[in-house]
Amino acid sequence: MNKLVYLFLLYSLLSFSQKYINYIDTHDDYIIEDIISQLTLKEKISMCHAQSKFTSPGIPRLGIPELSMSDGPHGIRPELNWDDWGYANRTNDYVTAFPALTCLAATFNPNLSMEYGVSIGEEARYRKKDVLLGPGVNIYRTPLNGRNFEYMGEDPYLASEMVVPYIKGVQKNGVAACVKHYALNNQELWRGHINVEASDRALHEIYLPAFKAAVKQGNAWAIMGSYNKFRGQYCCHNDLLINKILKKSWSFDGVVISDWGGVHNTNEAIYNGLDIEMGTPSDKNQSKRYPYNNNFLGESFLKKIIDGEVEESILDDKVRRILRLMLRTSLKKNRPFGSINNEQHYETAYKIASEGIVLLKNSDNFLPIQKSKQITIAVIGENAKKSMSVGGGSSELKADKEISPLSGIENEFNNAVIKYAKGYSSNENEDNDRLKREALSIVRDADIVLFIGGLNKNPFQDSEANDRNSYELPYGQPKLINEISKRNQNIAVILISGNAVKTNWKTDVKSILQTWYLGSEAGSAIASILSGKNNPSGKLPFSFPESLKDNGAHYFGNLSYPGNGVYQTYKEDILVGYRWYDTKNIDPSFSFGHGLSYTSFDITDISSSKKEYLIDENIKISCAVKNTGPFEGKEVVQVYIGKVQSKVNRAKKELKAFKKILVKKNQLEKIEIEIPIKSLAYYNEIKSDWEIEKGDYIIYVGNASNNIYDEILITII
Ligand code: BGC
Repeated sequence: MNKLVYLFLLYSLLSFSQKYINYIDTHDDYIIEDIISQLTLKEKISMCHAQSKFTSPGIPRLGIPELSMSDGPHGIRPELNWDDWGYANRTNDYVTAFPALTCLAATFNPNLSMEYGVSIGEEARYRKKDVLLGPGVNIYRTPLNGRNFEYMGEDPYLASEMVVPYIKGVQKNGVAACVKHYALNNQELWRGHINVEASDRALHEIYLPAFKAAVKQGNAWAIMGSYNKFRGQYCCHNDLLINKILKKSWSFDGVVISDWGGVHNTNEAIYNGLDIEMGTPSDKNQSKRYPYNNNFLGESFLKKIIDGEVEESILDDKVRRILRLMLRTSLKKNRPFGSINNEQHYETAYKIASEGIVLLKNSDNFLPIQKSKQITIAVIGENAKKSMSVGGGSSELKADKEISPLSGIENEFNNAVIKYAKGYSSNENEDNDRLKREALSIVRDADIVLFIGGLNKNPFQDSEANDRNSYELPYGQPKLINEISKRNQNIAVILISGNAVKTNWKTDVKSILQTWYLGSEAGSAIASILSGKNNPSGKLPFSFPESLKDNGAHYFGNLSYPGNGVYQTYKEDILVGYRWYDTKNIDPSFSFGHGLSYTSFDITDISSSKKEYLIDENIKISCAVKNTGPFEGKEVVQVYIGKVQSKVNRAKKELKAFKKILVKKNQLEKIEIEIPIKSLAYYNEIKSDWEIEKGDYIIYVGNASNNIYDEILITII
């Protein structure tokens, strides 16, 4: 190209003229090639690995800015030190804490997912981040996984539907979503080395669909490789997962970023699709000026190219992707500036928190509690006051505001006398007997007892790097609930957790709310549900088995979960979550999709447009949702489909569509749902491709996986 033309283009790029912005939008590939041709080998190599804990280098000489990354996925993490894991103790990094992704999934409301993405993207942008390390879509396989709270539950379809709008929302801000952790990182125990073995069907039907949706429908600009191995190879440089599936089959044109410290081998990192290596410790002894040159994709990569051992085109492919990411983010001129901690973000957090809360049980319509009454409410439990944005690992936040459940209740029930006792403590130095005595002394004379417990963000609870040690509620809570119920039967349990817990105490209490980690608006959202200001409409994104051995992953013993320290085999195969309980006729304590309301609904007139379909058609299902109770409310119509007499092992039914709808009291809303026949395909392991079996299928329409109103038989011809 003529040098003058080139200089003009580069000048335009770097001076960000409006004219050039339009040019970037339409001619990215051209610009990318042009920049690559100007980079030295060393500069290109430098772009493929970190230069600090959370940035990777730009090209200072050309004015190309570095990439700034941040966790993720519930808010923008406080600033860390340049070169170590310590917090930088800044005062400008307080943020909105959005509800955990389990809560978002429980809303079954993709519109809220879009709002979530837009808002968190704005906060990322304001904090000058180019890449948000989230959302997480690892499938919920066992209730012991310490990081389930960061993900979207046990169903690949639900996770897919919810992740796509989140990504689009984030990326509207010129901030990349980095979808994590790709893939099969379904436990924290031994995450750094465990080798996962799973069938092709489990891989394609259960563990990959949400990532695929993120890439193909969400157009995610970045993906994070996971720490574990899959079929003998680390996932951050896994030929099958990254080269063959992500980049070739799904045509991913973005950047693969390693999980922090997840890279182990230079050749594999070069050849198996990794683009940016992050988190490998630096070495100041080797180079004071460039301490990250010691990374696997640093000097040793450079040397291999100089020695002619590796072709430069492999490096160019990585750089091309990184520059494409930059043109979408840091080099994008007309990016909005973002905003932080504003009313709109709190409103979004509040809406999602209130819509995600799940009413698991409500005997005698015990809830809602009337606000106007001058009653005494005993609030018991450590979680009534405990901050849940602190702890948990990399998703930890410095919340600018976090309303505790107790203060939310105090604000909402201002006619009531509220008495609080901690009841139990997660701190083993505290005297639990004394705490229990104090609690029991206030419950007897209370009109209502609200027990606010569950798990927390401490290690071995809902927290990164370890799994839970037990399925039971910790710190003696089951016994405490039982003793309280002997003194006062008007008790509701408010569970705060990101995981299922054993609920063998459930008959002791009238109501149970599953309230997740709700972030900044936790207390106001919980109180609004307790008072009936908001009618609960959340649905469980994962099942609560009665005991661990009922769960498919645990049923097959240690080699299935947690493995032997070296490897594990997902023996339950495709039967994850409710697929297992349903197919094996096991009743969980609370099923996937379950969630009550203060009103009641009926789903009637369920029909399909036809009885016979061709494989390229859509099934059209129509039904009516009738509100038969005393309040307006939202219901989630859920459509599951199962194959009758399949030639392969299948779940009894799988979620294929859902729709959330607001219905006023005494009203009826008609809805229509379309399901492509293509979505009924299973993954044929012999052909290594999706296949739609002809024959009979049953469509189950209900408002929970265990509450089906009607079944329709259809045939694919
Ligand atoms: C986590 C990632 C996180 C990264 C950076 C890792 O330990 O697994 O989810 O994004 O650290 O904090």
